[in-house]
Amino acid sequence: MESNEFHTVRGYQLLEQEKKLLTSAMEDYLEMIYRNIGNEGYMRINTLAEMLNVRPSSATKMVQKLFQKGFVEYEKYGIITLTEKGKALGEFLLKRHNIIEKFLSSIGIRDNLLIETELIEHNLSIDTLRSIDQLNSFFEEYPEILKKFKQYRSMKK
Ligand code: CO
Repeated sequence: MESNEFHTVRGYQLLEQEKKLLTSAMEDYLEMIYRNIGNEGYMRINTLAEMLNVRPSSATKMVQKLFQKGFVEYEKYGIITLTEKGKALGEFLLKRHNIIEKFLSSIGIRDNLLIETELIEHNLSIDTLRSIDQLNSFFEEYPEILKKFKQYRSMKK
């Protein structure tokens, strides 16, 4: 079975190209914008600031940077939309987040799951991410192996 999570080829090609230009914070913004547009169809500067726990003025500055790099458009009343390039990269960033979170969750991490995902996600190579994605699929296909690991883990505690 082919891995189903990891098919946004364009998304990670973009990330490779933009790697030196995008900070972790910019990635977080783009991921959050993509996530919210997926849920609600749009994103507002104020909502974005709330979600990321920053001041609206900081959010505005970051959105301007993302605009300069061609990832977002923003209009009056603080409405943010994604360009095609922004959508492709946002989709990849959200997938990357979900792959890491799923992996940590499946090996039994419960505390600080979100915080740890956020810390790890920015620093992985594509190859490592792909391998983790494959491991997730492997666990799905062979749940008995994951079950064995969990038994092993509880024995060693
Ligand atoms: Co994230």
